[in-house]
Amino acid sequence: MAHVSDLIAEDIEAYLHAHQHKSLLRFLTCGSVDDGKSTLIGRLLYDSKMIFEDQLAALEADSRKVGTQGGEIDFALLVDGLAAEREQGITIDVAYRFFSTDKRKFIVADTPGHEQYTRNMVTGASTADAAVILIDARKGVLTQTRRHSYLVNLLGIRHIVLAVNKMDLVDWSQARFDEIVNQYRAFADQIGVREFTAIPMSALRGENITEPSALAPWYAGPPLLRWLEAAPVEDDLRGAPFRLPVQWVNRPNLDFRGFSGMIASGVIRPGDRIKALPSGRESTVDRIVTLTGDLPQAVAGQSVTLTLADEIDISRGDVLAAAASPPAVADQFEATLVWFDEEAMLPGRPYLMKLGARTVAAQVSEPKFKVNVNTLEHLAARRLELNEIGVCNLSLDAPIAFDPYARSHDLGGFILIDRISNRTVAAGMLHFALRRSQNIHWQAMDVDKTARAAGKGQKARVVWLTGLSGAGKSTIANLVEKRLAAEGRHTYLLDGDNVRHGLNKDLGFTEADRVENIRRVAEVAKLMVDAGLIVLVSFISPFRAERQMARDLMGDREFVEVFIDTPIAEAERRDVKGLYAKARAGELKNFTGVDSPYEAPEAPEIRIDTTRATPEQAAERIFDWLEGGGFDPVI
Ligand code: ADX
Repeated sequence: MAHVSDLIAEDIEAYLHAHQHKSLLRFLTCGSVDDGKSTLIGRLLYDSKMIFEDQLAALEADSRKVGTQGGEIDFALLVDGLAAEREQGITIDVAYRFFSTDKRKFIVADTPGHEQYTRNMVTGASTADAAVILIDARKGVLTQTRRHSYLVNLLGIRHIVLAVNKMDLVDWSQARFDEIVNQYRAFADQIGVREFTAIPMSALRGENITEPSALAPWYAGPPLLRWLEAAPVEDDLRGAPFRLPVQWVNRPNLDFRGFSGMIASGVIRPGDRIKALPSGRESTVDRIVTLTGDLPQAVAGQSVTLTLADEIDISRGDVLAAAASPPAVADQFEATLVWFDEEAMLPGRPYLMKLGARTVAAQVSEPKFKVNVNTLEHLAARRLELNEIGVCNLSLDAPIAFDPYARSHDLGGFILIDRISNRTVAAGMLHFALRRSQNIHWQAMDVDKTARAAGKGQKARVVWLTGLSGAGKSTIANLVEKRLAAEGRHTYLLDGDNVRHGLNKDLGFTEADRVENIRRVAEVAKLMVDAGLIVLVSFISPFRAERQMARDLMGDREFVEVFIDTPIAEAERRDVKGLYAKARAGELKNFTGVDSPYEAPEAPEIRIDTTRATPEQAAERIFDWLEGGGFDPVI
């Protein structure tokens, strides 16, 4: 439904044209129902005639029945009615509402205000151009006002309205309004919010919403809707250097090769020099192709396909940028993270990072600090829990082209995804590349791992044994190593208990420590593979994500996952070290299989059922697999 305009009656074509070409402002409302947020949104929909006749009739009836406004229309009922509907759905966490005026179209993200909904607010704010922060004139600046403002600023929303609502309840007192504005300004300065527009209003009475209110003659600024119509949107982006994250390489036939995506910032014309990143290769734009024909120029926000004068290698996820001012390329960063998932962040776990059109594996370090969003204090933290915000370092598997988030939301904003569950676990904002990553370069060696392994007459391998404590991993690994050694192979056995006496003696058995335990041993195994050895790794390694990380660290066909499959009842019956008894007695916390999870492999190269095979038979099977039956023989 479009808003009602005189043009509709006079010239429907002209109306549709105008409607299609109006700019779009996305904004966010922050506040709780008590501040009048629902009433304000209901009022905006009503004043712009975005309520259907039947909704309006129902609203009038409900207002008489259950409304709190003495027979007048209670707008909160409208929006809260929609909210109740949405609460039944479990997946939608932000309600987006659409309305329009003669000048502009609007999408308002209506997000819940409480602290436990921080992630919803961040989701709603991530695409917003402006924010309306609601204040109840009777209450003034509250903790939640500060939290909302902090988040809005963190997400880089520069256009902010301080909507001082319920002015009718403070008799439209200018003194009270000024007091609130001064209070807010002091706080805004502190968090780095440079500008905001304060508007005295009454959403309920419709004062200073669409028309200037006669009740506040002392206020000379615009009413809310006029401000929303005038807030600048795309101008900043057009002025910035050209960036186009490549969504896909369009190659319908051998004669055409185009790079498609939405222009994140800047302007582009045929003949402009561009640089493809991360490769750094340069070329010139030949054509700007769209469905409706070639363009002489394209700007931020437009989706286009570019063809280039030269054949250069560009793939999905690369960035095309102005050759004269390209983004930087790096693989280690400092970033702010907002944690979205019920499962806390695990430092060292490889998540997938999606930035622009690029997806890479990323590990997060222990937070430098987390932020108390109510007091803005920095607190020490070992990980981030649901709705927590912290500053961490990130280390990626491959370099990416990026801009700091403060300069570009498209090239500096990202999400993290859990590789196993596919859930979005965090949203993040890049600050800067770590200098150390730019000063450390990979040294190429003349003697490489193939040469080292060949010198030993073998091919390097990691044989990764995983399974419960007491499953028989170490016993079997030991027999395999003996067997290999007897054949003259060069081997090494990395055993969980042993490595925990040295390299990993600082680690315990929390999830975070186990992740770090496996990260380190995987890196050590990688070095040993580089040395040309056949490495046996015997660690519980309970999580799929870290075993996958270890696999990804090694070369193709170098990683052999062996699941030592012993049911917990059997491991507990054997209880060689007496640890199950202790765990059951509550003397040992976080014991795998008892009160800490074990995620069994889904597709290991080898699975050994120890209730059917003796350790000797198990070792023989692994040995045979390595020497003959597996990917390719070890020699
Ligand atoms: S892992 O989970 O981080 O891979 P790792 O293989 O290094 O574990 O160490 C497991 C060994 O530590 C077990 O074989 C057992 O001897 C000992 N251990 C001590 N406490 C625990 C515990 N809470 N859970 C599992 N193993 C434990």
